[in-house]
Amino acid sequence: MTILDGKKTSSDIKGEIAIAVAELKKQGKKTPHLAAILVGSDGASMTYVGAKVKACDLVGFESTLLELPADTTEEALLLQIENLNNNPEIDGFIVQLPLPKHIDEQKVLMAVHPDKDVDGFHPTNVGKMALELPTFLPATPYGIMELLERYKVETSGKNVVVIGRSHIVGRPMSILLSQKGAVGDATVTLTHSRTKNLKAITQEADIIVAALGIAEFLTGDMVKEGVTIIDVGITRVADATKKSGFRLAGDVDFASVSPKADFITPVPGGVGPMTIAMLLKNTLLACSRK
Ligand code: GUN
Repeated sequence: MTILDGKKTSSDIKGEIAIAVAELKKQGKKTPHLAAILVGSDGASMTYVGAKVKACDLVGFESTLLELPADTTEEALLLQIENLNNNPEIDGFIVQLPLPKHIDEQKVLMAVHPDKDVDGFHPTNVGKMALELPTFLPATPYGIMELLERYKVETSGKNVVVIGRSHIVGRPMSILLSQKGAVGDATVTLTHSRTKNLKAITQEADIIVAALGIAEFLTGDMVKEGVTIIDVGITRVADATKKSGFRLAGDVDFASVSPKADFITPVPGGVGPMTIAMLLKNTLLACSRK
């Protein structure tokens, strides 16, 4: 069993980005600048955005964090987005999800200029991805593709089962793994909450991407020997033995699944750190495209 070490791989990628940034600076070119908008004070979102800003510092990017109160109106948020769209200093920016319920998420994501949409959530960029045209790939699926590539996990002709059809992970993952060429050429089954007899489907899978957001959902009896497991879940589970009062659990029951797996991502330290590295990679691309 090989652990797909996202912490180490993301660190390698950040090292590569840092070298590229140093080179840009040496040539007197613009330093990449990522901005993030956080609306409200959801604990997990604050942690994620904080990690993104810290990663910018590490590779030598500029970063700007806009923290807006939870009662920010949709109109005020759209105005902030317009400002970032028009600010030549900012190469790319993200609006951290989820947004408060009174804000229309789709409207917000469509307001981000596609050339600055380093999350790859704008319909223009989703469309380009689906057509296999160069674009910003959404960071989590992009990070998973990078892990599979760097660990040389064969995907061509394999049965891939994706659990969860979110716009951020499941759906783009299914598109990317079925695209032509490496990493891709897989036969993909996209499953979700209405799927019947999921266990019979996962038992046939060579690769499983678990992205449904239910702690320790996928258990050993649901997978075959030699499977590759990508665990996207990261749920806070109450744990009185921890100082924080919680532990982080994936969508995969690591204890029962890992003995049967050839490759498996841990939680934490698997997909999570890769997401941040790929967001930086997209920002570098946004900067160098100009
Ligand atoms: N919330 C959960 N994942 C993501 C992500 O990749 N980008 C943004 N903006 N919000 C998220």
